Amino acid sequence: MKQDLLLTGCRLATMRRDAGAYGLIDDGAMVLRGDCIAWVGSVDAIPPEYSGIEVENLRGHLVTPTLIDCHTHLVFGGNRAREFEMRLGGASYEEIARAGGGIVSTVKATRAASEDELVALALRRLDDLIGEGVGVVEIKSGYGLTIEDEIRMLRVARRLEAIRPVKIVTSWLAAHAIPPEFKDRADAYIDEIVIPGLKQAASEDLVDAVDGFCENIAFSAAQIERVFVTATKLGLPVKLHAEQLSDQKGALLAARYGALSADHLEYLDEQDVEQFSASGAVAVLLPGAFYTLKETKLPPIGALRRHGVDMAVATDCNPGSSPISSILTAMNMACTEFSMTPEEALQGVTRNGAKALGLSGEYGLLAPGFAAELAVWNVDHPADLSYWIGGSPLHKFISRKSKP
Ligand code: NIG
Ligand code: FE
Repeated sequence: MKQDLLLTGCRLATMRRDAGAYGLIDDGAMVLRGDCIAWVGSVDAIPPEYSGIEVENLRGHLVTPTLIDCHTHLVFGGNRAREFEMRLGGASYEEIARAGGGIVSTVKATRAASEDELVALALRRLDDLIGEGVGVVEIKSGYGLTIEDEIRMLRVARRLEAIRPVKIVTSWLAAHAIPPEFKDRADAYIDEIVIPGLKQAASEDLVDAVDGFCENIAFSAAQIERVFVTATKLGLPVKLHAEQLSDQKGALLAARYGALSADHLEYLDEQDVEQFSASGAVAVLLPGAFYTLKETKLPPIGALRRHGVDMAVATDCNPGSSPISSILTAMNMACTEFSMTPEEALQGVTRNGAKALGLSGEYGLLAPGFAAELAVWNVDHPADLSYWIGGSPLHKFISRKSKP
């Protein structure tokens, strides 16, 4: 058991809802006990019971909860720089996908890579995120598309947690694309690979949630629903890539299954936001994909706000639609492209990112009982984290998890 630690001399962005903008405490102090936060408050209100414990003066630095990237495709082989050139030459993401490029080209490279190679490639991107204060990362399968290769991706994801001081949360995304061997047989692919593979991966404790890509270049709402039925039977939460390129009513399907989140949502109809909001699912916004695909249709941010939907922000780090391993850049893009406020962007990678992963109560706030996983920053104000592009303002992590 670690020694209790009293942090003083810090400005705290607690991200509590009930505590004003960013839940800021200017002359803050915090007590860490074991691997949890025991007390948070102002330096002149430290309870006497904590006198005498070890003190670390943070000399004016800003402290936030460790950041959360709640939507990534971090594990993959190869890259798609050539497709980037093609898109700049006028080809659309859908055209490239239909011509056998896109996700399927990453599938070829991922299948060809060894597990150790996939670990090494993913580590580079993970280290980029860690260097920007990220301590919780969601990682999806979806570039294997056979039972063995999908399971291998999730095994790689779990291995990353053992070699870096981060929490990894996995999602089963076999319903990401139709592999060439199942061309025009999407239903057979769901029956023969997605569903049995999910059962096997779950039995090996590799799956924390179940995702899908509901889109006209991927799977219909009816096909995704069959995967969700299996997920529900297995007691696994669901989430969905919904309304990224067209309105398939995927967000409403996700809502009906009590999803943790629906992600992308550019084509979500404003009329559907009220019904979506009633489910309590998080809207995960992915401005990196919006930027990369030169999308012009904005997610219905105003309606999401009006209906009180919690909005998260994530990198969507992947080789095709969002080649970005910078959570701070994603926050900046959320502000500039989606007109989110810097406070909403920071909520999106703390409190709401935690909710999107089913980790509310553990991560995303500086509050008693939450994980003592903290990012300490070389900036004065939390808005700075969304403002600047390039260079990492991370001063250091304070992590109480046992080191791998
Ligand atoms: O979130 N939309 C589907 N999946 C990814 C793209 C993956 C890829 O192009 O490789 C996304 O944007
Ligand atoms: Fe994605």
